[in-house]
Amino acid sequence: MSDPLTASKSTSLQGSLNVPGDKSISHRALILGALATGKTHITGLLEAEDVLATGKALGALGARVEQQGKSWCVTGRGTGGLTARPDTLDFGNSGTGARLMMGVIAGQDVRATFTGDESLSQRPMGRVLDPLKRMGLDVEGAGDTLPLTLTGTPDLLPIDYEVPVPSAQVKSAILLAGLHAPGKTTVIETRPTRDHTERMLRHFGAKLTIRRDGTRTAITVSGDAELEGQDITVPGDPSSAAFLAASAVVTQGSQITIEGVLANPARTGFYDTLKEMGAKIEFTNSRDECGEPVADIRIMSGPLTGVRVPAQRAPSMIDEYPVLAVVAAFAQGETRMEGLGELRIKESDRLAATLAGLIACGVDARAGDDWLVIRGTGMVAGGGQIETHMDHRIAMSFLVLGLGAKAPVVIENAGIIATSFPGFAKLMRGLGAQIESG
Ligand code: S3P
Repeated sequence: MSDPLTASKSTSLQGSLNVPGDKSISHRALILGALATGKTHITGLLEAEDVLATGKALGALGARVEQQGKSWCVTGRGTGGLTARPDTLDFGNSGTGARLMMGVIAGQDVRATFTGDESLSQRPMGRVLDPLKRMGLDVEGAGDTLPLTLTGTPDLLPIDYEVPVPSAQVKSAILLAGLHAPGKTTVIETRPTRDHTERMLRHFGAKLTIRRDGTRTAITVSGDAELEGQDITVPGDPSSAAFLAASAVVTQGSQITIEGVLANPARTGFYDTLKEMGAKIEFTNSRDECGEPVADIRIMSGPLTGVRVPAQRAPSMIDEYPVLAVVAAFAQGETRMEGLGELRIKESDRLAATLAGLIACGVDARAGDDWLVIRGTGMVAGGGQIETHMDHRIAMSFLVLGLGAKAPVVIENAGIIATSFPGFAKLMRGLGAQIESG
């Protein structure tokens, strides 16, 4: 067992704080900075392993990515300009980094082998590679998992593509490739997913149109784009803030404020659900930063009731289901979550890992292929020893459970938390949470 952390019953979490920068926006800021001409200054970049791996890959391809005090500066090479020839690009644990960079590589005159850690090497890449192959990307390797050797081309073809699964990573990879293809590349989605790529492309000066027709959204990017370096401020990550919000709602007498959090409606499904469960949550001081809505979030503990979480909400809270399941264990009554198929192919099989963790902590829970039902009694036994399966969100979710449960919860391999939320345990201790090493 390496890096264990133990979370024990805590009360009255108090304080105002910021969480690290949004992971999705951080990846995109580095990538678009590298594809732009001139300099992009990024404040609030998430300095976590996942994002730093993307920065390193862009550096190996010829962009200059430098830390300058508290901010980062990317000196871009322009679209099609990443022509350095690295042998290998290692994306560690990051599906977002690997998949978005596949879209980038597609339009560069470059051949590189994509690798990742044990968890990433089991995740399907076909959903991104199939459309990119149609555009002209060459892929060598066994099956659709890393390691894979990709050869991009300056002669990429534009496509029209309906994404078969709700995935912002697939949508984004095609749009990034489309920047390099002559003419127009259109991605159609029937279930809206996070739109940070679209917002940031516009911010960098790309020509992008969005047409909505009933449940279909067609996003068209014009190729041979010229992007210009920008100043970007990355707001706090609502997916990281979710662990703090959940901790506040499951520990008695808590009241916390998380400042400067991304409040994009494509990311706030978890907070909508907490409100439906009866949690006291307020979004205040709403503002706009670099084309993204941002707000402060105030959360207070209080009694919670089980709810049904509809499948349509899944894309807006896809990373928050494990921690929502933990909150549901503390609610009175049944919580049913549907449309969870995508959870099976995240950093771990999150549906299986969440169910196993809940059962190990004495929670009445059942799951099917794409659903999870939890019967809460308002009280959780805890006492479990949780295997993270190299999944940062499983680790943090069960630390939250330990804060509200009767008996302490031990998380094995908690070091994986650094992939998205460096300093998590310290920040939580600052609020009054009992989280200790060992
Ligand atoms: C992300 C999209 C989501 C999400 C991931 C980040 C992104 O993945 O789970 O953590 O930044 O585009 P999918 O596109 O696979 O749903």
